Amino acid sequence: MYSKKVIEHFTHPHNQGAIKNADGVGMVGNPVCGDLMKIYIKVKNLKNGEVIQDIKFETLGCASAIATSSMITDLAKGKTLGEAMKISRDDVADALEGLPPIKMHCSNLAADGLHEAIKDYRSKNKK
Ligand code: FES
Repeated sequence: MYSKKVIEHFTHPHNQGAIKNADGVGMVGNPVCGDLMKIYIKVKNLKNGEVIQDIKFETLGCASAIATSSMITDLAKGKTLGEAMKISRDDVADALEGLPPIKMHCSNLAADGLHEAIKDYRSKNKK
């Protein structure tokens, strides 16, 4: 039912935990299953723009929610905020070599969590 990649990321998640003094935090929940996800980002201003230098997650949820959280941190690390905003739930599911159709909403949570963290950073850093 699950791809190898999903099992890999579920059993050995990358970037799990919190970032103290994060520049942006996104928290999203799924009202249907009750799962919760928190994404923390550290942003650095570089020549090519504002870049996600570090990213971590805390997730209370199903195997797919953990795997998609782990995968989105891998996908977003080192990207500019503009690029990271374009990461979609399909990108997360594709990078995990697919999710069972009934679990697609779990990848939604990861993409939304990342986008919320970026919005939080932007609202705190309005010039
Ligand atoms: Fe809730 Fe997966 S079942 S996020």
